[in-house]
Amino acid sequence: MDAHQPVMLPQVLAGLVPRAGGLYVDATFGRGGHAGAILDAAPGLRLHAFDRDPDAVAHARQAFAGRPGFTMHHANFDAMGEILTAAGLSGQVDGVLMDLGVSSPQLDDPQRGFSFLRDGPLDMRMDPTRGEPVSDWLARASADEIADVLYLYGEERASRRIARAIVHDRVAEPFTRTVQLAEMIARVMGGARGRIHPATRSFQALRIHINGELDALRAALLQSVEALAVDGRLAVISFHSLEDRIVKRCIRDTEALRAVERVFPDDAEAQANPRARSAVLRVARKLSSVVWS
Ligand SMILES: C[S@@+](CC[C@H](N)C(=O)[O-])C[C@H]1O[C@@H](n2cnc3c(N)ncnc32)[C@H](O)[C@@H]1O
Repeated sequence: MDAHQPVMLPQVLAGLVPRAGGLYVDATFGRGGHAGAILDAAPGLRLHAFDRDPDAVAHARQAFAGRPGFTMHHANFDAMGEILTAAGLSGQVDGVLMDLGVSSPQLDDPQRGFSFLRDGPLDMRMDPTRGEPVSDWLARASADEIADVLYLYGEERASRRIARAIVHDRVAEPFTRTVQLAEMIARVMGGARGRIHPATRSFQALRIHINGELDALRAALLQSVEALAVDGRLAVISFHSLEDRIVKRCIRDTEALRAVERVFPDDAEAQANPRARSAVLRVARKLSSVVWS
């Protein structure tokens, strides 16, 4: 259950080029697949890891206890700048990794409420100690607000129909369970069509909204640029076009960054790990000096 295959691990290491004694940040620790490999990649290396999920932090504190050079922070990665500055590390980081989205253990645990296939409370918070669960938001949001979220973050074309049905049906029975919502969406959309479950896009949208994922990503990308030393590397793995667009634009529009490469998983990895199929890794380098043109 706890297994999480790190996506594009050799490509991430090739992109970050970990060096002996270097300082690295893993903004999305998860189960530490990438973090462990970075720590092992060169001697004397230091790694600051972040995760907003208390389960990921508990795992790190147990599985990585006593590993030299490792520090775990329970925080949203949009606080990375503040935390690194307080530690006197701003401008000194050799590489930042962001492996976005949710981990397999989060998806697999029905109690976290991410899965439309396994019944559980309709929660979806990566950090259940903060904010509100999706069920609370769906109980009070207007049909327009719900439709906007489904459309903007899920690119769901049936957003208005689904939102109206939620607002209508919640009067008789509030939406509190994942499968309850998934079945209602499937009904509204006329059952399963194609390969993906009809609730896939809506669940992605609600997750992005309730966790403020895109705002956190925008903020953390800018903070990463500040945190990096000259020639430092930024490596970001995205899993859908909304994330990848933000990463691409940030690299393109930030004067101090130069794109290094864009990488996709090879066929063998895509076969072996379904999560990897939609992944794209972008690597950028911080320039030695900003050239004004
Ligand atoms: C895809 S998993 C990372 C897996 C990890 N690379 C590994 O090899 O095990 C993403 C992780 O990032 C965390 N995460 C997502 N958004 C975050 C944010 N804004 N701040 C901090 N952690 C976040 C999630 O809680 C999750 O544990």
